[in-house]
Amino acid sequence: MKIAERTYVISGGASGLGLATARDLHAHGAYVSLLDLNSDSGSKIVSELGSRAKFFEVDVSDTDSIAEAIKGTGAWVKETGKDIGGVVAGAGVGLPGLIIDKKNEPIPISSIDFVLNINLRGTLDLIRQVLPYMTTANHEGPDGERGVIIMIASSAAFDGQMGQVAYAASKGAVASLTLPLARDLSKYGIRAVTIAPALFDSNMTKMLSSKVKLSLMNAMEFPKRAGQPEEFARVVRDSVENSMLNGTVIRLDGAMRMPARL
Ligand SMILES: NC(=O)c1ccc[n+]([C@@H]2O[C@H](COP(=O)([O-])OP(=O)(O)OC[C@H]3O[C@@H](n4cnc5c(N)ncnc54)[C@H](O)[C@@H]3O)[C@@H](O)[C@H]2O)c1
Repeated sequence: MKIAERTYVISGGASGLGLATARDLHAHGAYVSLLDLNSDSGSKIVSELGSRAKFFEVDVSDTDSIAEAIKGTGAWVKETGKDIGGVVAGAGVGLPGLIIDKKNEPIPISSIDFVLNINLRGTLDLIRQVLPYMTTANHEGPDGERGVIIMIASSAAFDGQMGQVAYAASKGAVASLTLPLARDLSKYGIRAVTIAPALFDSNMTKMLSSKVKLSLMNAMEFPKRAGQPEEFARVVRDSVENSMLNGTVIRLDGAMRMPARL
């Protein structure tokens, strides 16, 4: 899929992996529509990137909020004539909690809902709402490609640690839905790819204690360090450009297999 002269919708585009992706696709000629809760950061980035970028304040766990942003993006696409070429569903949260704690209290259902509503429901809802624009976009190249959907899972999809039931459930589900999504969309020339990163530097991982971070880095085989958001963004770019990547989950993890506990 071509990057330049196409519009890419990026949730979580105001920080971390989503922001690095937005910068990279923009640097390669894309128009970027950034959807995020964080309007301060979103507005700053858009004024830095200029006329090929738009920001919409969105809560991906709220269907109407996504609808407003997609309507706004659709109107922008009409103005620019740059069809939507892809979605990167990057908005995500973690909220650790044991399924049952030392006081014999089960995890609050509100914690489970919070994580699933953003990481899973929010991912599917965003994709669902962007798709009508993608299925009717101009196709391109010898394969007649219309676009690509990129989702973000995590190492926790495969080897979630203690206290990660909700997060692992959300990311495992994202990994699992990749193939059926690709199958549903093949007739439109739209692909689906999920990237499953291990530890990457971002606002999310800034909150981890240095002890936890060190322990995670030690669980990496090589290199023994956190990934950089730009390294993640390069895999997104390849996933957009390489038409043979479809229906698959790419682990980006320095061969890390997370241990049960840190
Ligand atoms: N950084 C890592 O080590 C790592 C590892 C594996 C997976 N991931 C996943 O990568 C994705 C990006 O995370 P990151 O590390 O860049 O974190 P980050 O905190 O830097 O960025 C996440 C962005 O999502 C936005 N967001 C959160 N809730 C939202 C909501 N309800 N609606 C709209 N936007 C919302 C935040 O405002 C933020 O800008 C997440 O899905 C995360 O689970 C990250």
